[in-house]
Amino acid sequence: MANLVELKNVFKIYGEGLESEVRALDGVSLTIQRGEFVAVVGQSGSGKSTMMNVLGCLDIPTRGDYFLDGTDVRELTDKELSLIRNKEIGFIFQQYNLIQSLTVLENVELPLIYQGIGADDRYDL
Ligand SMILES: Nc1ncnc2c1ncn2[C@@H]1O[C@H](COP(=O)(O)OP(=O)(O)OP(=O)(O)O)[C@@H](O)[C@H]1O
Ligand SMILES: [Mg+2]
Repeated sequence: MANLVELKNVFKIYGEGLESEVRALDGVSLTIQRGEFVAVVGQSGSGKSTMMNVLGCLDIPTRGDYFLDGTDVRELTDKELSLIRNKEIGFIFQQYNLIQSLTVLENVELPLIYQGIGADDRYDL
């Protein structure tokens, strides 16, 4: 069975070639099997969020490969990537990104609305 997650020698370099260049990921390789529980720890600025953004298909590596359940993420269309973000990957952001003008319930409902779940089912899950 394919690894659920596989990073192969992944680099994420912000502002590559500029004086302000930041090498946030520097040749990261990682495999995660289905059902495995993995925690990534490291000091502030060590690249954890950058790696999560890559794993969550919110960002693409500067170099290197990311296979999600055997699929090369680089070959997916924007539509396929948004389907993965919508249906396959749960992602809790470091900043909660709550919408201030909505109630707590409405904030919780929002992803369900994007998934096309009707009002009756949204309250019944
Ligand atoms: N969009 C960006 N543009 C330029 N540099 C960035 C960007 N995002 C992150 N960085 C830099 O990349 C490095 C890794 O940042 P990242 O946010 O991934 O670290 P982190 O491990 O999540 O830190 P923390 O524990 O503080 O959340 C840092 O030096 C950060 O300043
Ligand atoms: Mg972070």
